[in-house]
Amino acid sequence: MKPMHIKTQVYRLNPQNIAPATIRMAGKTIREGGLVAFPTETVYGLGANALDAEAVARIFAAKDRPASDPIIVHIAALEMLAEITPNPPPLLDELSTAFWPGPLTVILPRGLRIPSLVSAGRETVGVRIPSHPIARALLDAAEVPIAAPSANRFARPSATQAHHVMQDLNGRIDMLLDGGSTTIGLESTVLDLTADPARILRPGGVTLEALRAIIPDVVYQARYLALEDDAPQSPGQLLKHYAPDAELRLYQGTPKAARAAMRQSAKAAFAAGRRVGIIVYEEDRAHFADLAMAQVQLGADDVQIGARLFAALRDLEAQGVDMILARDPAPQGLGLAIWDRLVRAAEGQIINVDEA
Ligand code: TXA
Ligand code: MG
Repeated sequence: MKPMHIKTQVYRLNPQNIAPATIRMAGKTIREGGLVAFPTETVYGLGANALDAEAVARIFAAKDRPASDPIIVHIAALEMLAEITPNPPPLLDELSTAFWPGPLTVILPRGLRIPSLVSAGRETVGVRIPSHPIARALLDAAEVPIAAPSANRFARPSATQAHHVMQDLNGRIDMLLDGGSTTIGLESTVLDLTADPARILRPGGVTLEALRAIIPDVVYQARYLALEDDAPQSPGQLLKHYAPDAELRLYQGTPKAARAAMRQSAKAAFAAGRRVGIIVYEEDRAHFADLAMAQVQLGADDVQIGARLFAALRDLEAQGVDMILARDPAPQGLGLAIWDRLVRAAEGQIINVDEA
């Protein structure tokens, strides 16, 4: 299904003082089968009534998303869970107390009211309670669970600012609620509770370490699939994801060795006429300061780096670079999610620079 061209209405909302008339209208748009993009604490979501299969079909069309990729259902409060899944496991009590509202999605058996399309035909459903005030107000106003993938075209970096949503989806969605930059900037952690032991399908805003405190035997195994591999077990594990238009090369090794290799490649590529952009962590700043090429500063710690990562990819792209160089962060804490997004954006182009 090809999306029709529609006028996308944009409304600015102050998360601390949300205009009631606007949010009522957005809620009504969702209830009536429309598409509304809205900020969450992780990234912008593209929402539709999760109980309405036709509305959910419009999400897939707007994003050019393959029908094999299931969508997360967002709810306002635990009381709504009964609509989504038949018997939540006891483990969910502890998890929801610790992490909801917030950036954790759990995979549970799918209840009868959720159309199969939401879950791409699976018997499971992903669900989370977001904490962003605009997301919460929208859920309250809509009075239905909201199915929402990230508000970007398929395989593009997720949107962390309203103008990213417009870049990808203008003319394809009814409404965009502009609530400024999202805070975490990386998507939720996806945790499969139908597996025993529970398994992390996507590292995200809730860290592996934090989950281990509650589920000591939780499993995480990085596994990436090329787009050509058919019928992936876990659709979100596609390698081609978050990819900017420019080629991304990821340098893996000690910070010192990785920086040196990046400098060398940057200069060589620049000399060969490539338009090079560099992703720079605070501690790397002085090492690249003399290079006259596009650079984006991501910040000093994983919280800052995570918050700015997707915007940095889009910014470099907007500056017209055709090659982006980055080095891999330590895969601990939020760093694991940052590492995962960079690996995918690099589509497997990982350059190992450690001496043997
Ligand atoms: O932070 C987030 O999770 C954002 C905001 C908007 O909530 N949403 C988001 O949705 O990132 P999306 O569709 O871009 O990514 C959802 C991931 C996909 O990798 C999808 O395959 C996986 O979650 N997923 C959803 N439902 C699933 C299910 N029933 N079984 C396995 N994986 C599932
Ligand atoms: Mg996504």
